[in-house]
Amino acid sequence: MKILVECMHRVRETKVLVVDPSNLNLDHLREVAKVIREGGLVVFPTETVYGLGADAFNREAVKRVYHVKGRPADNPLIVHISNIGQLEHVAETDYLTNDIYKIIEKFWPGPLTLIIPKSRRIPYEVTAGLNVVAVRMPAHPVAINLIELCETPIVGPSANPAGKPSPTSGEHVKRDMMGKVDVIIDSGETLYGVESTIIDFTREFPVLLRPGAIPVEEVERHLQKKIVIPDSARGLIEASEALSPGMKYRHYAPDTPLIILESKDYSDLKSYSEKVLEYVKNLKRSGKKIIVLASRETRDYYGEIDILLLGSRKNLFEVARNLFSVLRIIDELDVDLAVAEGFEERGLGLTIMNRLRKASGYNIVKID
Ligand code: TXA
Ligand code: MG
Repeated sequence: MKILVECMHRVRETKVLVVDPSNLNLDHLREVAKVIREGGLVVFPTETVYGLGADAFNREAVKRVYHVKGRPADNPLIVHISNIGQLEHVAETDYLTNDIYKIIEKFWPGPLTLIIPKSRRIPYEVTAGLNVVAVRMPAHPVAINLIELCETPIVGPSANPAGKPSPTSGEHVKRDMMGKVDVIIDSGETLYGVESTIIDFTREFPVLLRPGAIPVEEVERHLQKKIVIPDSARGLIEASEALSPGMKYRHYAPDTPLIILESKDYSDLKSYSEKVLEYVKNLKRSGKKIIVLASRETRDYYGEIDILLLGSRKNLFEVARNLFSVLRIIDELDVDLAVAEGFEERGLGLTIMNRLRKASGYNIVKID
């Protein structure tokens, strides 16, 4: 009988609702909020990437989120709230420190997720059995109004099948989630194109679990405190299960193999791109079809070699924003291998390198 029920959840009629964020129709969003309150699944836009939303207090709906994403049950979900009053339903507010409130005041609503002690009301399905919960208040008008109308916090993992690049446009979510959820809200391209920054505030020192849309240096400046950056947050190794369970799975990966060509120093871009070119030419001699993920500053060095443009090294916001789209485009091309340039791990460069390294399955080549 249980199997039968699961099958019924697999194929659904999905309603697509196009919503212009600058001209919200609250009546439409009220209908969508009703779907969530009744235990349905809704793909919604945020300022980072699209999320797969469900009522955070509804265990069955939360379980369906894992099922639809194909997400392992030990990888917890972020809870999204729309006002500070909801925090006490989600977290154990007695244990929130001054640092946490300082962060909330400065960065919420926005792309910063906090790991804090969970309230008893949050089901363990949400936190995958952990006593801590990930919480954020998104800044996207559709997300915030939707949660407000739901009158309940909603879980929101990125709305991609587990392991694949996160969706940053309506086209992406329609491709990934059609027939699997009740409603898709299509609000076009998201602003940041990478997920929120996640910082764990339940340890002796704040620890960066995932670099994201807000550079970690900005948070450090505001707190006047160092944030620990483990190698896993740099995308060099998988996090230990204890730190953040989700980090151990392959993430953001195109089907096409991807290699990252890294240097210690990107100040001499001419000599760096010559090394990349040499590496790619060698591979091409073995008959491989290759695409290079390049930056605006280096593109002209590659001559006849095909490239996909990530953006300018002087505008890493642009590179981060394009990254997941570019990773998806690789699979639409007839190539055997993608080779990506590396970026300096400063500001959003850390976020970009985390995603690229993980997308490559740690397929990192040093070409110094
Ligand atoms: O920008 C974002 O954060 C997007 C949008 C939709 O809000 N959401 C998102 O969710 O990226 P997701 O599920 O794709 O990534 C959340 C990450 C996972 O790696 C998970 O392991 C980690 O957060 N996480 C969630 N709850 C946690 C917890 N209680 N402790 C440690 N890590 C947690
Ligand atoms: Mg994700």
